Amino acid sequence: MPLSAPEAWTLRRFSELYYTGPAAGARPFEDTHWMGVPALKCPLDLWVYQELLFRLRPGLIVETGTRHGGTALYLAHLCDLLGRGRVASVDIEALPRPQHPRIRYLKGSSTDPGIVGAVAAMKEPGAGMLVILDSDHRCEHVLAELEHYGALLQAGDYLIVEDTNLNGHPVAPSHGPGPHEAVEAFLLRHPEFVRDRGCEKFLLTFNPGGFLQRRDVEPRPAGSGQTAVPEDPYRADEPDVLRSVAVTLERARLAETLLEQLARVTPAFQEAMQQLDAAQQASSQFKEAVASLDRARQREERLGAQLQEISAAFEEALRQLAVWKAVAEDLQNTNARQSEASEREAALAARVVALEQALGRAGIGVTERDSAQQAVSTTGKP
Ligand SMILES: C[S@@+](CC[C@H](N)C(=O)[O-])C[C@H]1O[C@@H](n2cnc3c(N)ncnc32)[C@H](O)[C@@H]1O
Repeated sequence: MPLSAPEAWTLRRFSELYYTGPAAGARPFEDTHWMGVPALKCPLDLWVYQELLFRLRPGLIVETGTRHGGTALYLAHLCDLLGRGRVASVDIEALPRPQHPRIRYLKGSSTDPGIVGAVAAMKEPGAGMLVILDSDHRCEHVLAELEHYGALLQAGDYLIVEDTNLNGHPVAPSHGPGPHEAVEAFLLRHPEFVRDRGCEKFLLTFNPGGFLQRRDVEPRPAGSGQTAVPEDPYRADEPDVLRSVAVTLERARLAETLLEQLARVTPAFQEAMQQLDAAQQASSQFKEAVASLDRARQREERLGAQLQEISAAFEEALRQLAVWKAVAEDLQNTNARQSEASEREAALAARVVALEQALGRAGIGVTERDSAQQAVSTTGKP
């Protein structure tokens, strides 16, 4: 059922919010798990998968783009509950993934003929098939996948093209041509596929216009003309001008949100800059303190060396003083001994004179006098 313009507007806003997450929170899109394993899906779409599987009971489910394997495990668990079905999940990257007997992981590009062949070989003859395209979201790649896997389906089977909401339908306006554009191009060539809008009954979906069912019509040969694309209920009530006003308003709102966020972030940024400034000042003060400590240490070393020199000189002076003191004492002693010797000499001379006089008086000759003199000088007595 088509939405009114305000309803379409609300849904677009909510889709965007669900996809990007609130300004202050995580992106729900990236925080969805099945049994602890990340599943990059909208849970409302997973519920639709469950309803489709219950209705179709396919023998093979193909998922291109495995990532962590949360969706593959979810599909395998649903097969357990239904008691039938296998899952082939293709990815170019090998990551640690949950193991389950119903899952077969295939490594390689989903458009590689070898991979397509391996998937085709897993198909149960006559049994239904469900294909979910969720790998490289560029238009050419999705279109190539649609051609390869669409050809494996039979009437009644489903082909789900994930993330047709990209490139402004309504999220990620700058993505560039993606799944949405691929589906548009594919449907022009393949009237045997039709959109099942019933799968969008929960309104919020990552795959608007991306649930395709194969019907009993022969494919149109390439270039054989245009097929009307089924109506898009998201746009049905919206004239083009209203849509472009809505898009402009949405961009304005986005700009407003960005400005609000900028305003919230700016004071914190300024405060951080001030703190950085203060930290830089503190750091240069610290460097200055370290440098002056260094200078003080060098001064201290120089003073220490000078002190050592002074004390060595002082010790040398003391030593010389002691030497001079000893010399002076020696000199004093010498002087004393000299004056003592002079006194003794004078006394001796006096005695010689006295002796000569006595000898003269006694009339003793020179020889006797010399012997007497010799005696006096040896004994010190006349
Ligand atoms: C959106 S994630 C898949 C999410 C997963 N289906 C889920 O529901 O959790 C896309 C994955 O596609 C893979 N991929 C990218 N290009 C591919 C290619 N050409 N063939 C197969 N897988 C590809 C990536 O490695 C990535 O793991």
